[in-house]
Amino acid sequence: MRALLGLSLCLLGCGGQPAPGSPSLRAPELPPVEPLPAWPDDPPSDAKIALGTAIFFDARLSQSGHSTCDGCHGHLTSFQDNLIGAVPDRSYPTDRPVLERNTPSFFNLIYAPVFRWDGSHTDLIDVAAFPFSEANMNLGADVPSAQMKLKQRLTVDVPGYVALFQAAYGVDLRAQDPPSVWRLVGRAIAAFLRRVVSRDAPFDRWNAGDDSAMKPDAVRGLGLFRGQGRCVQCHHGPLFTDFGFHNLSTSPPRKDGTRADEGRFLVTGDERDRGAFLTPGLRGVYDTAPYFHDGRTPGLRAVMRHLASPASAADPKHDPIFDRPIALTDEEIDDLIAFLAALRGAPVVIEQPPLP
Ligand code: HEC
Ligand code: HEC
Repeated sequence: MRALLGLSLCLLGCGGQPAPGSPSLRAPELPPVEPLPAWPDDPPSDAKIALGTAIFFDARLSQSGHSTCDGCHGHLTSFQDNLIGAVPDRSYPTDRPVLERNTPSFFNLIYAPVFRWDGSHTDLIDVAAFPFSEANMNLGADVPSAQMKLKQRLTVDVPGYVALFQAAYGVDLRAQDPPSVWRLVGRAIAAFLRRVVSRDAPFDRWNAGDDSAMKPDAVRGLGLFRGQGRCVQCHHGPLFTDFGFHNLSTSPPRKDGTRADEGRFLVTGDERDRGAFLTPGLRGVYDTAPYFHDGRTPGLRAVMRHLASPASAADPKHDPIFDRPIALTDEEIDDLIAFLAALRGAPVVIEQPPLP
């Protein structure tokens, strides 16, 4: 017991680093990703997943006929687009050429209790259908008109979907009202998202006892992640996020007091939440540059430099963690990045299916 206590104190910042591969570095607060949830109310099936996959790839469902979920949440690029701002549907007015927020990856969304950079959604089915009502797919200016248009697309414009919904959910889509169609579409996309899980990373194998799975630099990076970097205070659990909202001074007040993005405040109206954003999970993050909610931070090195500089406390509403600056040398930043590279999971291979 006493030995354990000594070790955990050491992890929180005593000078002597335990030897790489030492069991003392194993991280119980960073467990493997859990098995897929069972969903007894809506048990997944091959037909549901195939339907969701088709919707994900089908440009004919967008207003212009050119946009797809895949266009921004690209299946070949970790289900995001590596762009600062994503390009909305072509039918969207050209005076708004890009979206204001960076496209998040789909990795591990099915485990998440809250979605979007400001946490505006808490229901996976709802957030999965919602882009049809936004600039992303641009089917309507509001949810009811997008719902009507989506039903028309799936039953009249591309009628092949009627049979797919019949096979997956045992319903005749033509007899459903538009909100029910919307809900079924959300359920099918949610079923597809079950395929998009980032797990079995080198770190997980190392944490389970395989010392050869991570190189010494990544092991040192893990020590920094849990110790002087303080990363683990927000990035913990199987998905490396607390699903909380924090102000990292990434959207500080301008001269007139407003922010480029008010973040969580837009949802809660609580002054303390201005400039706070959802902690993103870090599995697969190595491949999803650029970073932060606005995509204006080009790479992981720039993320670390921001966190380990006075810039992280520039916003008067910054998270108190940054009252005391995080100190990281360039070598330590390299080690942290090596650790983040060890969080890349087994590849998720999705093939574009024939469309109905
Ligand atoms: C034009 C680019 C674009 C297209 C097309 C697009 N999205 Fe997104 N998506 C985004 C952006 C940007 C965000 C972040 C929005 C925010 O947080 O406010 C996002 C967020 C999401 C989220 C929440 C992710 C999270 O980590 O919280 C889900 C789920 C999602 N999109 C699903 C879809 C689905 C399903 C489609 C197709 C029907 C789609 N998106 C089409 C750009 C796009
Ligand atoms: C106070 C909580 C907190 C701490 C401490 C913290 N983070 Fe974060 N992290 C966040 C939040 C919140 C964001 C999103 C901020 C934004 O987008 O404006 C974020 C974003 C990131 C991103 C970008 C992810 C993306 O998809 O854009 C990386 C990488 C990251 N953090 C790694 C780290 C590392 C490494 C450390 C330790 C050196 C650390 N974080 C410390 C809360 C925290």
